[in-house]
Amino acid sequence: MYIQENVKLADLTTFGTGGIARYFVNIETQADLLEALDFAKTKNIQSFIIAGGSNIVFSDNDYDGMIIRINLKGLELVGQMLHAAAGEEWDDVVQFAVDNNLWGMENLSSIPGLTGSVAVQNVGAYGQEAANIIDTVTVYDRQTGEIKDVAKSDCSFSYRSSIFNSTERGHYIILKIIFKLSTTPAPRIDYPEVIKYFSTKQITDPSLQQIRDAIVAIRAVKFSQTTDGKAGSFFKNLYLSPAEYNKMLEIIQAKKPELVTELEVIKNKFPTHDGHIKIPTAWVIDKVCNLKGKKIGSAQISETQALAILNINHQAKSADVKTLIDLVVSSVYEYTGKKPDVEPELVGF
Ligand code: EPU
Repeated sequence: MYIQENVKLADLTTFGTGGIARYFVNIETQADLLEALDFAKTKNIQSFIIAGGSNIVFSDNDYDGMIIRINLKGLELVGQMLHAAAGEEWDDVVQFAVDNNLWGMENLSSIPGLTGSVAVQNVGAYGQEAANIIDTVTVYDRQTGEIKDVAKSDCSFSYRSSIFNSTERGHYIILKIIFKLSTTPAPRIDYPEVIKYFSTKQITDPSLQQIRDAIVAIRAVKFSQTTDGKAGSFFKNLYLSPAEYNKMLEIIQAKKPELVTELEVIKNKFPTHDGHIKIPTAWVIDKVCNLKGKKIGSAQISETQALAILNINHQAKSADVKTLIDLVVSSVYEYTGKKPDVEPELVGF
């Protein structure tokens, strides 16, 4: 195991902001992990765990601790259970499942990052989410030093949330996930953009691989393949109670009456199962706040997906990114009465 010193945080994330980390280490075995944690303890410095770095925005401040990158590899099929080490590239895991005719993760194709993160934020897209396929998460317990299995029922999965990014944040390091997949076809092709894709291609009964191809194609357009730094969606969608929705409607009626009809249409486009109303924050940012394409320094709201902020040519200052985030939050609040949650982890701000 090689501990590097004075490493650029910007190179460790897909977004590409950040100062200098005092130490950095790449973990390839469980023994490496124990050694790295020991090193940090001996030096009495903090440590911070990262994986693919696709959902993290570092501030430009330096980090006087140790960044530990989980790069554990291993992929094994046991019947219909897929065991994937936390450091496996997520999209390779999805392709492996599809190649083995296993259903359940195909709609999560083309999502950047490593496998462990999928459990942390209960990754979801196009009608599927990690919680539906996770069986067990194997973790290292930083308090007791034990390796143990956390059953799905103990992960408290909800929209973009789990114990790993809420109540137990910092407690566990994810080593492996066991996914429960199925050879029984279970296509989820009811998401508006997916319906459109297959009807254009006149495919009525798509295969598993065709569904994966559809998602890859849809995402390629939305999350542009430019060299700009990106971290996916920067804001969670709005889940409103009927009372909160009525409040939003009143605000829109008063401030943007021309959008009332569109709001009533979009309200029914993304049904939920618990009586809440899902309003895409992208729609609010784009159509209500008119912030699509808004730029502060080299931080810009994407022209193709208003939920995404881009680090143009990797030149953005983290302070500009933060100003842009704050602008979106306050503007969405002004027109909806709700502050959207910020999706990526903001570190060092
Ligand atoms: N819309 C706009 N303007 C835009 C983009 C979208 O008006 O610029 C409207 C459209 O009406 C569209 C609706 O917003 O129908 C929803 O947009 P989209 O289908 O792109 O999905 P999203 O709700 O913005 C979520 C996830 C994405 C995931 C997609 C697809 C969150 C925070 N984001 O985005 O996840 O890929 O659905 O399922 O839930 C991520 O978390 O990093 C991520 C990329």
